Amino acid sequence: MTGLGRQGGAEAAKGGRRHLLSIAELGAEGIEEILEVSDAFVEVGRRSIPKVPSLRGRTVVTLFAEQSTRTRLSFETAAKRLSADVLSFSVDTSSLKKGESLRDTVETVAAMGVDAFVVRHTSAGAPAAVARWVDASVVNAGDGWHEHPTQALLDCYTIRQVLTERGGHPLEGSGVGCFVGLRVAIVGDVRHSRVARSLVLALGALGAEVTLVAPGSLLPPSLVGWPVAKVSYDLDAVLPNVDVCYLLRLQSERGAGAFLPSVREYSAWYGLTSRRAALLGDDALVMHPGPMNRGVEIADDVVALPQSLVLRQVSNGVAVRMAVLFMLLGQGQVGSGGGAPALAPISGPAPTLGTVVGA
Ligand code: CP
Repeated sequence: MTGLGRQGGAEAAKGGRRHLLSIAELGAEGIEEILEVSDAFVEVGRRSIPKVPSLRGRTVVTLFAEQSTRTRLSFETAAKRLSADVLSFSVDTSSLKKGESLRDTVETVAAMGVDAFVVRHTSAGAPAAVARWVDASVVNAGDGWHEHPTQALLDCYTIRQVLTERGGHPLEGSGVGCFVGLRVAIVGDVRHSRVARSLVLALGALGAEVTLVAPGSLLPPSLVGWPVAKVSYDLDAVLPNVDVCYLLRLQSERGAGAFLPSVREYSAWYGLTSRRAALLGDDALVMHPGPMNRGVEIADDVVALPQSLVLRQVSNGVAVRMAVLFMLLGQGQVGSGGGAPALAPISGPAPTLGTVVGA
């Protein structure tokens, strides 16, 4: 996070604003801190009243200029569970449709008194531009082909949660050692995927061994700067040797179909069918960021397998986004209920994660 991560000092000093624009800003330490804060919010989510007063008096705007189900609703749920006021900006009913510019729009919304913008946009770099225009924190909720940092964080959280549970260890204080040497295959439309970009950066920072599996036409033109161990065109050969098989959505809206002879052929070579899933080790995990093209990159019966984490990823997304908003904006006390974890108040204009403690 710019201003919270270890590399964010200079930007942080500018008005004390803090942003989450890219996984690249966080480094392993920053990712670990977010995952650890998320543990407390997973616990909050299990309470009968899963709400804490941490962001009372704060206002969060979700500004989505591209379709979303999971990201938008989980950010709005996260903000409400933190007791923030939420403004849900809808492009279709806004004056953007009358030709108002994005800059005028965000400056107008900011003038109403906003603490954070959660921004999704079809253009790479739009959240970074918003961060330059307004005096509020900005979270990148997916920008073009660039990045989707909170998706990568919730994916890492989910992997760590499952591996820690399997090891019989408590999550709190479990660190991120489980990622070192973890073999992860990221399969499919890497070229058009902001999820893949953020996830590769996160897994690379944490020491995982990432293999990209895709037809050549669905790989980026260059992999310079991508911390991947291998690239393969042969999913069947890769599957027996991975701990996590992460499937990407074939992004038809970004023209993925033009890079393939046919969707049917893509599915025949790269779809995770039940026959292919049987090649995975017994402990291997299956993940997908959603929305899924069932029968294309993942078969119905594979989604239903016990090792499929698709809905667990969604559930964890709320807690991880609570952690991100809390770390950007929070100054209050989380956990007012009996026996609840308490997150100590964060003081000063540029809070650091090191001040967050579990009870
Ligand atoms: N994974 C994801 O970003 O889903 P949405 O497009 O539904 O938000």
